[in-house]
Amino acid sequence: MRERDEQEVASDLTRCAHAGEGRLPSATEPLAPPVWQTAAYAYPDLETLDAIYEGRERGFIYGRYGLPNHAQLEQALADLEGTEAALVTASGMSAISALLFALLSPGDRVIASELVYRGTRNLLDLDLARFGVVVDYVDATDLAAVEAALRRPGQPARMLYVDVLTNPTLLVHDVPALAELAHRHGTLLVVDSTFVTPYHCRPAQLGADLVVHSTTKFIAGHHDVSGGAVLGRSELVEPVRQQAIRIGGIGGPFDAWLILRGLRTLPLRMSQSSRNALALAAWLAEHPAVERVSYPGLPGHRQHDLARRLLANGYGSMLAFEVPGGRTAVARLVRALRLIRFAETLGGVTTTIVHPASTSHRSVDPATRAALGIGDGLLRLSAGIEATEDVVHDLERGLASLA
Ligand SMILES: Cc1ncc(COP(=O)(O)O)c(C=O)c1O
Repeated sequence: MRERDEQEVASDLTRCAHAGEGRLPSATEPLAPPVWQTAAYAYPDLETLDAIYEGRERGFIYGRYGLPNHAQLEQALADLEGTEAALVTASGMSAISALLFALLSPGDRVIASELVYRGTRNLLDLDLARFGVVVDYVDATDLAAVEAALRRPGQPARMLYVDVLTNPTLLVHDVPALAELAHRHGTLLVVDSTFVTPYHCRPAQLGADLVVHSTTKFIAGHHDVSGGAVLGRSELVEPVRQQAIRIGGIGGPFDAWLILRGLRTLPLRMSQSSRNALALAAWLAEHPAVERVSYPGLPGHRQHDLARRLLANGYGSMLAFEVPGGRTAVARLVRALRLIRFAETLGGVTTTIVHPASTSHRSVDPATRAALGIGDGLLRLSAGIEATEDVVHDLERGLASLA
């Protein structure tokens, strides 16, 4: 209840309905940002409403359009990625859907990496295709293949879409070279940077037109919230924001608050988890029970030189390794683990492991999966911030179960 009305209220019905309104008098301010847990803002008058709608004054309106906790997170992410604008959404997929539906029209052609995040691929194949968008999949680590797809006669490509690192095989996309190629053909480059975060790579500084994140992962970092983000120039981000508002893709204020809270420790967490990933990858590469390791920080990775040029502060916290014996071996290994959790996510403070053939690539036929490098014995690991030796010890226990 606003202070001036206090005396006029006679009934508890009214008192209860208006409980907690107004500001508390305080000469001090909260040290941490509050959660603005409101679904709407009240206008003081009709003139202010007009001024806000006409852009003459700034003001929050309604939860689905974004609230102060979203604006704070957007500011923080734009600062980190070095972009003019940012939009935060309810999940990585709501960010990606809003982006694709906002910027593509029937007849448009998209060139996407054949190893684009599986949820993005499903959206392109099952939904965008129904609206007349044509998608060409290429091995986007092969610049000649990308160039050939860009040059294909007929419809020029509206968008080239890649992840910085492929899931789950940890191949590296050469963002500056792809930006140069895309722009030569008047094509937008969209980069999913979830696996690396701005701690390791800032794709917008390397030529990407739009950057997307599942902030559910390293940015929030604690396995306790879902979120997404789209970053880039205002002229591209604003239509995506309007699309996200129309499809109801903006999350709740507490989610944005949790993500901002997680973001504060991003460099500390990424520093420790990428150190762990490097140590684990090097250790796994020497282990007799391991057939193959993919980690861009290992000199044996076929794109190690590119990874050195592209990534700063290490090589990320994601790695993949393959054990002989397929599903049976994987089942034994994950059952033996005590510390590392077998879970379908990544990017948290605790180390997690997943079996892509049973999860992201479950619906892909085995021959196609094998051609993409996703065999039945492949495991993808997301390093957490635990002590390295404890994680090594747990993996040793898992691998010993295969003997
Ligand atoms: C690279 C990548 N992009 C996007 C997404 C989708 O994010 P969300 O699960 O937050 O919708 C994921 C989820 O695993 C991901 O790994």
